[in-house]
Amino acid sequence: MRGGALALAAALSVGLGAVACSPSGGAPRGPAVATPSSGRLVFLAETCPTCHGHGREGTNTGPALDGLRGHWDEDTLVRFLHNPAAFKLADPRLAALAQRFRSDMPPLFSTDEGRVRALARYLLQE
Ligand code: HEC
Repeated sequence: MRGGALALAAALSVGLGAVACSPSGGAPRGPAVATPSSGRLVFLAETCPTCHGHGREGTNTGPALDGLRGHWDEDTLVRFLHNPAAFKLADPRLAALAQRFRSDMPPLFSTDEGRVRALARYLLQE
């Protein structure tokens, strides 16, 4: 949790430094937070690998997280991460998936919108 936040802060300050030093100024690029690579840091910091594996390959407590683009768009996935139990009730595919595992998918620890978006973008990458 801490490590991830620090790494994100470091990545952000490097990004800001680069903008400040740019002689021409250039177009503002926006914060470097909600990218798939920062999302990977959130994935690790949120203990998702405990159940889904470090490479999202799945474990005996959670399914592999691949091909998610076939099932989710970014906004819906963000909502799922905040409240997986509600989606499990509404979506027969998730209910069937959940039956294969002993523990439920817990809601996300972080409520920081930028972090959650970055995580969703990372998950939607193939
Ligand atoms: C305690 C084990 C556990 C942890 C920790 C966990 N999950 Fe899950 N996850 C599951 C299980 C079990 C399912 C199957 C569906 C269900 O139970 O809701 C699931 C389902 C999912 C799905 C839907 C997969 C699909 O096929 O659509 C996503 C996406 C997901 N998890 C992401 C995450 C992320 C991101 C984290 C970290 C924030 C995380 N999970 C943490 C157990 C876990």
